[in-house]
Amino acid sequence: MVVKNICCIGAGYVGGPTCSVIAWKCPDIRVHVVDKSELRIKQWNSEKLPIYEPGLEDVVKECRGRNLFFSNDIEMAIKEADLIFISVNTPTKTYGIGKGRAADLKHIEMCARKIAEVAEGNKIVVEKSTVPVRAAESITHILSANTRPGVSFQVLSNPEFLAEGTAVENLLHPDRVLIGGEESVEGDEAVAQLTWIYNHWVPTEKIITTSTWSSELSKLASNAFLAQRVSSINAISALCEATGADVSQVAVAVGKDSRIGSKFLQASVGFGGSCFQKDLLNLVYIAECLNLPEVAMYWQQVTDMNEYQRTRFAKRIVECLFNTVTDKTLAVFGFAFKKNTGDTRESPAIYVCSHLLEESARLNIYDPKVECKQIEHDLTSAAVTSDPERVQQLINIYSDPYEAVKDAHAIVVLTEWDEFISYDYRKMLSVMKKPAFIFDGRKILDHEALIKIGFHTETIGKRFSRNTLLRASGDHFPSFSWTL
Ligand SMILES: NC(=O)c1ccc[n+]([C@@H]2O[C@H](COP(=O)([O-])OP(=O)(O)OC[C@H]3O[C@@H](n4cnc5c(N)ncnc54)[C@H](O)[C@@H]3O)[C@@H](O)[C@H]2O)c1
Repeated sequence: MVVKNICCIGAGYVGGPTCSVIAWKCPDIRVHVVDKSELRIKQWNSEKLPIYEPGLEDVVKECRGRNLFFSNDIEMAIKEADLIFISVNTPTKTYGIGKGRAADLKHIEMCARKIAEVAEGNKIVVEKSTVPVRAAESITHILSANTRPGVSFQVLSNPEFLAEGTAVENLLHPDRVLIGGEESVEGDEAVAQLTWIYNHWVPTEKIITTSTWSSELSKLASNAFLAQRVSSINAISALCEATGADVSQVAVAVGKDSRIGSKFLQASVGFGGSCFQKDLLNLVYIAECLNLPEVAMYWQQVTDMNEYQRTRFAKRIVECLFNTVTDKTLAVFGFAFKKNTGDTRESPAIYVCSHLLEESARLNIYDPKVECKQIEHDLTSAAVTSDPERVQQLINIYSDPYEAVKDAHAIVVLTEWDEFISYDYRKMLSVMKKPAFIFDGRKILDHEALIKIGFHTETIGKRFSRNTLLRASGDHFPSFSWTL
């Protein structure tokens, strides 16, 4: 079999960019991305794509209508395909057994059942969604229990490692592509087919093949390790604030060790996104189910540290603003969970804002890419507040950061957007209430320059010494005592 037609079920942050890049790099293959959401498909077929990723629009525009198609015709796409990617969401369960921890596999199961129902001929089914170990086994079970004569399936695991904000770059130049398959002649053949697709642009030495279970677990383990690094440096940031050390300096010194490396050692207000928290909780749950409580506790601590960091930052804002933010206006810069994406899932901004709203702060929120409706939805959802009307009264969403800071007591930076670095903070200061504060939760601003122009500046993992303040601020040196 030579793969000529690919179907991808799930046109989200993974399915959309992954299949756009496959279509771009494999002009000999027809790629059909399908989704149950009519709105999402409409957006993929429009001028304004449903997700923002640098470089994605150009790829889609080049391939759409040529060998890349988006539709809601799931059955037709399955029938026509030789290979089917399952790229649907696998969120944390919000009900029943494993609530709040286990991955909810209902969408995966629905896909498997739909494939079994309508497929004709032989198909390779590729699990691209992040799933618990041995999920492929369940998919195989469902498929084989419902297989009709003349139909056969091979199930592969091919987890996606792209990071939002750099998805196209990551897909074009992956560190590795991981393919897990069944150890059999048919399994090897299916792995070879998927390898052939990636070989259109990915060198063979970057394509790793493993057993299905190793592949599934490697994805969870990778996210757990990445999240662990963020929590580790964030734990050190708390020590820095308590001792006077500077976490940036510590991170450089630690990262110079080639056994450790320098990436993912940036202290911040915490990690976010749809994956880290969910995959960590899933790993913890799996360990508990396998009666490995020590393993579960170890990884649980990584997510607990993340929660601690967000809460610590919110508390510090309140403390610095003379222990009350009630009726004070805070300009929030950034709501996406990281720069270069409009995705707000598990964004630290949601948690920090909700703490501040609990304290009755008024929030003027600005983000370059997140839609106003999304911010309102996130802050008024039942998981965040029991009083959505009150929250609605306390928040204002702005499309101009200079408007957002008018009469504000403080600026709170919660996403590391590049544009925040080059704002005219002198101009902003002139329209803010005094003393004006800035809380840099991403460590991206020039703190000494801000102190110099008169901002009371706070950041993660660093306490400005009296000497720094005197040197930088001259006449503006604060006359009140700092509560660090
Ligand atoms: N977002 C990331 O950065 C990222 C990175 C690597 C892996 N992953 C994993 O990839 C998977 C997908 O993540 P995502 O961020 O793309 O999710 P998403 O929510 O953006 O997209 C999932 C899409 O699947 C669709 N869908 C759900 N059930 C369906 C069904 N039965 N039939 C048709 N369509 C259906 C939804 O409508 C949605 O559009 C998850 O398992 C996630 O953990 C995500």
